[in-house]
Amino acid sequence: MKSTLDFILNGERLSLADENPTRTLLTWLRERRGLTGTKEGCAEGDCGACTVVLAQLDAAGRLEYLPVNACILCIGALEGREVITVEGLKSHPVQQAMVDCHGSQCGFCTPGFVMALYAYCKSSEPVPLTDAIAGNLCRCTGYRPILEAGERARRLADPKAEAAEDGARRARLAALPRETTQLGGFFNPLTVDELAGFLAAHPQAAILAGGTDAGLWITKQHRDLHEVAYVGRVSELKDLRDNALELEIGAAVTYAEAFDALAGLHPDIGELLRRLGAVQVRATGTLAGNIANGSPIGDSMPVLLALNSTLVLQRGRQSREVGLEDFYTGYRQNVLQPGEFIRAVRVPKLQPGARFAVYKLSKRFDQDISAVCAALLVDAAKTRFGFGGMAATPARARKAEAAYAEGIEAACAALIEDFKPLSDQRASAWYRITAAQNLLRKFHARVGPRALLELTP
Ligand SMILES: Cc1cc2nc3c(=O)[nH]c(=O)nc-3n(C[C@H](O)[C@H](O)[C@H](O)COP(=O)(O)OP(=O)(O)OC[C@H]3O[C@@H](n4cnc5c(N)ncnc54)[C@H](O)[C@@H]3O)c2cc1C
Ligand code: FES
Ligand code: FES
Repeated sequence: MKSTLDFILNGERLSLADENPTRTLLTWLRERRGLTGTKEGCAEGDCGACTVVLAQLDAAGRLEYLPVNACILCIGALEGREVITVEGLKSHPVQQAMVDCHGSQCGFCTPGFVMALYAYCKSSEPVPLTDAIAGNLCRCTGYRPILEAGERARRLADPKAEAAEDGARRARLAALPRETTQLGGFFNPLTVDELAGFLAAHPQAAILAGGTDAGLWITKQHRDLHEVAYVGRVSELKDLRDNALELEIGAAVTYAEAFDALAGLHPDIGELLRRLGAVQVRATGTLAGNIANGSPIGDSMPVLLALNSTLVLQRGRQSREVGLEDFYTGYRQNVLQPGEFIRAVRVPKLQPGARFAVYKLSKRFDQDISAVCAALLVDAAKTRFGFGGMAATPARARKAEAAYAEGIEAACAALIEDFKPLSDQRASAWYRITAAQNLLRKFHARVGPRALLELTP
């Protein structure tokens, strides 16, 4: 096991021994390396001003480019990767296209947009261009010139020059050591046995996956994380199995990696994931992190509850399977024991003939947390309604499910017995319960959810 942090920064091979691995990449770039092109806007993953690109080799050795928010990424997670900042681009077509299309005014957001568009241009299967920049905010230019720049950049790119750059990068990445690493209290294992052993010996250690929730402990709560177990390189946790009856998604599989499989279960799940954070969040964030974080407005849980998903939990060499509906014991409380972690999420597939819909209501279409999220399933054998934003935890509406056989209005009346939602800055209690009832009615009336996804409160 080595005790250095080995990665590449804009082509330069680094091996750090004396750095705090829970320092954010943004502060490290700006304060330690003087690379101030990467900006800080919100320090919580919302504005994209700090976007940089991570290059990495996947399990099959393919080169991937991930846009990430440097403000909430711990540098300990850089092991084995290359960080590309705006200073690392040398007159790339993206930069030229931004100039040609007048994509910048005050310029504060510009490095973040350039890097988001760089990742877009480097992707062999790009997301739609509007999705590629949905995680970047600009307060003065307006988005049309930036979208034009994105389209132009792909046209300007010289395939030979890009291939040469990719080849050199692939060789640099392949030359990095691939070993379990411990730098101070930051443990970065390659196998699930190592992870389980470390957590058994250090049950108080914080588990870090994508860091899209945990990163805010550092930037907003100023917490010192003395002991951390990073799961992002644990090979068994990167497995995604697609069986006849279910998906089994390892705890370190990111939303971006799970997207096709989950969207393949039902198109509404794809639409929901497209609106879960933005590309930067989905590049590192995980289902397991969403579940363990346990926010009552976490978006994946209503879907997983409706589909009757289960969690594989592991502690030392012991593992057990727990239904997601039995996982939460209260507001952000769950049944995980000290030293126990989520190993995988099992998601049953829909039965033929099942009726299913997912609705996310939020104030903004892109990159916004739900006020209410509902996933509704009716098939020959069962009725399961999963809700977020209605209680202290994501929860099933059991009384409404039971009453649904008596008619839709009986189900809507029973929903009031299921939930006593709170009023907060996202929605009032009245809005939440009324919206949830109306979502049930829309589902019953078979009104397409696509239109509802556009709805704003
Ligand atoms: C800008 C922004 C937008 C967002 N938008 C949305 C949104 O639209 N909808 C939504 O639901 N969420 C949203 N989130 C929240 C966040 O992205 C998700 O909750 C994400 O799924 C967290 O996963 P992660 O891998 O980043 O977890 P981390 O941040 O690494 O960890 C989160 C928690 O889970 C624990 N944990 C992680 N992995 C495990 C494991 N294997 N076993 C046990 N515990 C574990 C950690 O200890 C921590 O307590 C957003 C976040 C940001 C920053
Ligand atoms: S500074 Fe706003 S997303 Fe990082
Ligand atoms: S150019 Fe000023 S914020 Fe985008």
